[in-house]
Amino acid sequence: MTSRDQIIRLFRNRAGEYISGQEICSALQISRAAVWKQVEQLRDLGFEIEARRSQGYRLLESPDLLLSTDITSDLDTILVGQQIYCENEIKSTNQLAQQLAGKGAVEGTVVLADAQSAGRGRLGRKWESPAGVNLYCSILLKPQIPPRQAPQLTFLSAVATAETLREFCGVDARVKWPNDILVGGRKIAGLLNELSAETEQIHSLVLGIGINVNMTSDQFPEDLRYPATSLRIETGESHFRLPLVRLLIKKVDSLYAEFLAEGFAPLRRRWEALFDLLDRQVEVDLGQRSITGVVGGLEPDGALKLFLADGSVERIIAGDVRPIGM
Ligand code: BTN
Repeated sequence: MTSRDQIIRLFRNRAGEYISGQEICSALQISRAAVWKQVEQLRDLGFEIEARRSQGYRLLESPDLLLSTDITSDLDTILVGQQIYCENEIKSTNQLAQQLAGKGAVEGTVVLADAQSAGRGRLGRKWESPAGVNLYCSILLKPQIPPRQAPQLTFLSAVATAETLREFCGVDARVKWPNDILVGGRKIAGLLNELSAETEQIHSLVLGIGINVNMTSDQFPEDLRYPATSLRIETGESHFRLPLVRLLIKKVDSLYAEFLAEGFAPLRRRWEALFDLLDRQVEVDLGQRSITGVVGGLEPDGALKLFLADGSVERIIAGDVRPIGM
């Protein structure tokens, strides 16, 4: 743990109290001058710290920063979040997670960034990733399952994200097949899972989760394919990202444990409970062509069942689904 992490933890554990400079020196094994330097650096990051000559230092306000020391503190997960990387601005958290996987990073490694300069969206699109307002998160998994079952874990990140948003601030988050998260028909989160595998074995699967937290309407690009929203727009107030990301990590951890123990069935049930396009008329963009039909539900392997106008049934394995008449 760095001196900065230690001092933050000390302040957090003694919320509202003054801590003497001497006590901080002994706890961190650093000089008084070094303590002062740490305090100044924390202030530069946006921490409001009061200093009183006879009493010491007291933390008054913390900025909405994602720091690994805060995220890991009493996290109590089985696998996810044992290792956490919190970056300022990087190209893409998915890209870094893949690179770390190539260097042998442990399963459950989490990569977070304050901003992404080349955030990746599905179907080669860009994911708008301004600094300080949203959550850009990638989680590295190494499931011992055949690669053909990997799409089942797309449903895991969808359920984890939707359930997290519902529990966090009560929004009516829904899933859109295969993996967008919507509130009131507007996209609040996007998911991009990236797989590295051979025919028989998965090397790594990166669950990429982007949640629009405090983004305002004017921050969304105008050419979005799907109307977008954020937690702030939906609830009318801004939200700290720290408790949100902790909840998300815990949720992914417990759902993954359930998936490994019991397979896809429980996940599928949870996903169906969050799905609101059943029996709805949709258009599916398959890349080369698009088809329309009525959604008939989820197949046991996660494919979407679509009833076409000519009476035939199509199994959709990949595509972009949008309701018609919204
Ligand atoms: C979509 O197109 O809906 C998927 C968007 C996925 C965005 C997230 S943000 C964190 C992670 N890193 C990326 O580069 N993309 C995903």
